Amino acid sequence: MEFSIKTTHPEKQRGPCVVVGVFEPREPSDAARAIDKLSGAYLSGVLKRGDMNGKFGSTLFLRDVPAFRAERLLLVGLGRRNDFGEKEFMASIRNAVKAIIASGAKEAAFALSGFPLVKRSAAWKIRQAVINVRDALYRFDQFKKNAADAPALKKISFLAAPSEDSRKLDDALAQGQAIADGVAFARTLGNLPGNVCTPTHLAESALRLAEEHGLACRVLERDDMKKLGMNALLSVAQGSHEPPKFIVLAYEGGKAGGRPIVLVGKGITFDSGGISLKPGEGMDEMKFDMSGAASVLGTLLSVARMKLSLNLTVIVPAAENLPGGGASRPGDIVTSLSGQTIEILNTDAEGRLILCDALTYAERFNPEIVIDVATLTGACVVALGHVATGLFSNNDRLALDLASAGRESFDRVWQLPLWDDYRESLKSNFADLANIGGRPAGSITAACFLSRFTEKYKWAHLDIAGTAWKSGVEKGSTGRPVPLLTHFLLSRAGKAL
Ligand code: BES
Ligand code: MN
Ligand code: ZN
Repeated sequence: MEFSIKTTHPEKQRGPCVVVGVFEPREPSDAARAIDKLSGAYLSGVLKRGDMNGKFGSTLFLRDVPAFRAERLLLVGLGRRNDFGEKEFMASIRNAVKAIIASGAKEAAFALSGFPLVKRSAAWKIRQAVINVRDALYRFDQFKKNAADAPALKKISFLAAPSEDSRKLDDALAQGQAIADGVAFARTLGNLPGNVCTPTHLAESALRLAEEHGLACRVLERDDMKKLGMNALLSVAQGSHEPPKFIVLAYEGGKAGGRPIVLVGKGITFDSGGISLKPGEGMDEMKFDMSGAASVLGTLLSVARMKLSLNLTVIVPAAENLPGGGASRPGDIVTSLSGQTIEILNTDAEGRLILCDALTYAERFNPEIVIDVATLTGACVVALGHVATGLFSNNDRLALDLASAGRESFDRVWQLPLWDDYRESLKSNFADLANIGGRPAGSITAACFLSRFTEKYKWAHLDIAGTAWKSGVEKGSTGRPVPLLTHFLLSRAGKAL
């Protein structure tokens, strides 16, 4: 897809298709009003006759609008003006793209003043529009014999007011493209089935990514992990024939030798639960249990594309959780890399076992900040549904910054407490700690478990169990929280919009 920005008035635009919004009931946006005026109230007539009332999600193509030089005008229903916020803005862009694809048009121009969002700048609108256009165009059909034809749509432009600072808008466009690349990368890794996306596949993808962007990449094998003492991670892998991988990538856009931000992503390429086997229904969705890994790799891709001036290290502990003959049993005790012993009371609480060793390993980078991303607990879905990612942190400033990045990128998080009171539940009669804390506050006790391995640095944990993928007819990876993490890093590099 080719994107561009034009600083022209929408009513002066030529070309195959111009896109503007209409509010409910029958209330033209600024851009629509300008075109209406030009056309001698032709649009008002259309609205008055009831062909389009602005209902959210509705669309209408008009041809031969009097005095209008573009071939077609696409009206997009925005719903009621008072209800029109960021979410509606982004969804209306996707709705428009779907209508344009269905029409077979090759090119379209979105009038920004046709999608009025008072609280947001033109730059923000452009960045988010690019991400949502790319989202609507995303396909995952590599396993279908007869994939649908690729859409004819090849060029999209955004029409901005001539008073806008065009450098800012160009930056926003580039950011949108880079974020969309990261999201698409994460979505595809997430959507791949467990028999294709194995720990070995994750390692190969990481090596390819590193090669394409001139990054350093190292993959530790089972023997390396044994020598180091990553027994918690290894205990998860031992029930599967797929060998575990421990992947480390480094992007150095900042000061040479400067402290990096470290992102750690849970890379369970399939989670059957192990001996504590999960119920069969919906178990296929546990191929998405490497979404944390996919999102940190996607974020790295975005950051490398934007050449941000910061140092970023990405760590992906990768394994498959299966109930083979070598699998750990409930009651087994392992010694983690940190030296703390863990009683594995439930083999389905495997995410924290691979993460704890990765979090200890992160110490060696003398990190400025460590953020782990994981589809960690079903309890997080119960608490926050599919809207917000769960946020936990041992540092209030970091939590605030992530919450703010979430609002700006509209990839939102909600903080949950990490008080000492929750530590009680992880007590074991036989080891330093147990890997589960019982049913109450399941996502908090999971985070609390991780906090026992992150005492040496500023740390945040993102539980993406509810946000990394969608179920049902729209089943598929979302690419979250790539937009959140990328925005957070843009801020750190002084490049946020
Ligand atoms: N990957 C799952 C968490 C999960 C479950 C994410 C459902 C999204 C949807 C994780 O490994 C897991 O199984 N967690 C257990 C923890 C429990 C055994 C303490 C869970 O949430 O049930
Ligand atoms: Mn599990
Ligand atoms: Zn899991």
